[in-house]
Amino acid sequence: MKQYSEACRQNQDPILSVIKPLLKHKSHILEVGSGTGQHAVYFARQMPHLHWQTSDRPDYHPSINAWLSEAKLNNISTPISLDVTEQWPNLSVDAIFSANTCHIMNWQMVECFFAGVGQLLKLNEDFLLYGPFNYNGSYTSSSNANFDVWLKQQNPQSSIKHFEDLDKLALKANLTLVKDYPMPANNRLLHWRKN
Ligand SMILES: C[S@@+](CC[C@H](N)C(=O)[O-])C[C@H]1O[C@@H](n2cnc3c(N)ncnc32)[C@H](O)[C@@H]1O
Repeated sequence: MKQYSEACRQNQDPILSVIKPLLKHKSHILEVGSGTGQHAVYFARQMPHLHWQTSDRPDYHPSINAWLSEAKLNNISTPISLDVTEQWPNLSVDAIFSANTCHIMNWQMVECFFAGVGQLLKLNEDFLLYGPFNYNGSYTSSSNANFDVWLKQQNPQSSIKHFEDLDKLALKANLTLVKDYPMPANNRLLHWRKN
């Protein structure tokens, strides 16, 4: 039921330090691929001015619900079913956050992901995407290269994506890169804004 992610525990504070100032004037956040539910609880507790909407594919809902039941926060909503390749719900949000999702997805899913984000966000709203990315056709570290081998062993369609490819999808979705933040353990936090 309630799943625990050690990666989330390790990256939650570095992520919070970047997203907290960016979300200072926001009210409604959609998280795509909430996974265990751990990030949602942590971020909603640390940013009580936000309403945090969790989402994921149905298999993940029991763990997200378990974290939410335990946390008893009133600024977080039970998960909606959102597979980026299917019809997106008609939500009113002013930012979208997602962590460690693109390397799990195949390329067609990533294309749907960016198209969906572009359709949901309105002018000047923000998309915050955390994870490992490649630059200039290369891994940024040997640990990311090893991680990519491991990912492909789990699912041959999973892989670390190239930042430049993602930024092309972003442009197509009318999203402009605002900033690319270096994060611990060779991860990045990419911030795009709808134009
Ligand atoms: C490695 S987990 C990351 C979960 C969580 N965000 C975290 O940081 O721990 C990858 C997540 O991507 C989600 N995901 C993969 N493919 C997806 C798709 N097509 N639509 C929506 N979510 C997807 C999975 O369901 C899972 O929650």
